[in-house]
Amino acid sequence: MSGLFITFEGLDGSGKSTQLKRVAADLERRGVAHVVTREPGGTPFADLLRELFLRREAAQVDGVVELMLVFASRRQHLIEVIEPAVAAGAVVLCDRFTDSTYAYQGGGRGVPQGVIAEADRLATGCRAPDRTLFFELSPEEAQRRRREGAADRIDRESLAFYRRVHEAYGRRIAAEPERFRVIAATASIDDVARAVEAELSDLLRPLSQAAGA
Ligand code: TMP
Repeated sequence: MSGLFITFEGLDGSGKSTQLKRVAADLERRGVAHVVTREPGGTPFADLLRELFLRREAAQVDGVVELMLVFASRRQHLIEVIEPAVAAGAVVLCDRFTDSTYAYQGGGRGVPQGVIAEADRLATGCRAPDRTLFFELSPEEAQRRRREGAADRIDRESLAFYRRVHEAYGRRIAAEPERFRVIAATASIDDVARAVEAELSDLLRPLSQAAGA
């Protein structure tokens, strides 16, 4: 049986990574084979690209250069980790994927959608996740939360940048409503976790049953 590819998306500070870990812990308890990974990164080589991508020295990097870095990382990640795991029947929980590129390089940096779509065709064959959870948080609230944590190169971007990122996510969701599930990220961590469980239960329940949990 083929596995599942589930992605977690949202503004920096939306709490998606915390929720991803909770889903992973739940799958672990139920004995469901799963892989936790993230982008950019997810393989030794892609992690090197991630490090470059997030360094402050990369501040002057152009949007298309960013695009090429994230798709280089993504292709290697897909070939080396995601597709083999899905083919082996595992649930892949991935923190960010191509929607982030449309949001950050497209919305944030202004790279045209058509250019992103072409790069996506080349790098992934336009591979889409089976489901994408979007953790909805206003750009203002996300900025407030980011101020409380350690900031990387992108975290330091302006509120105007994050507003464009947020709008671009909105366009992705409107274009593919069947793939996305929008979760209000303002609720408590436990309430958000309950919403996540509800939005994944149709996909995950059969796998839990197959695992005997
Ligand atoms: P993270 O902090 O959620 O791990 O993500 C790292 C940063 O990389 C985050 O600010 C979003 C950014 N990013 C892009 O700009 N484009 C992409 O395609 C991806 C996957 C992430």
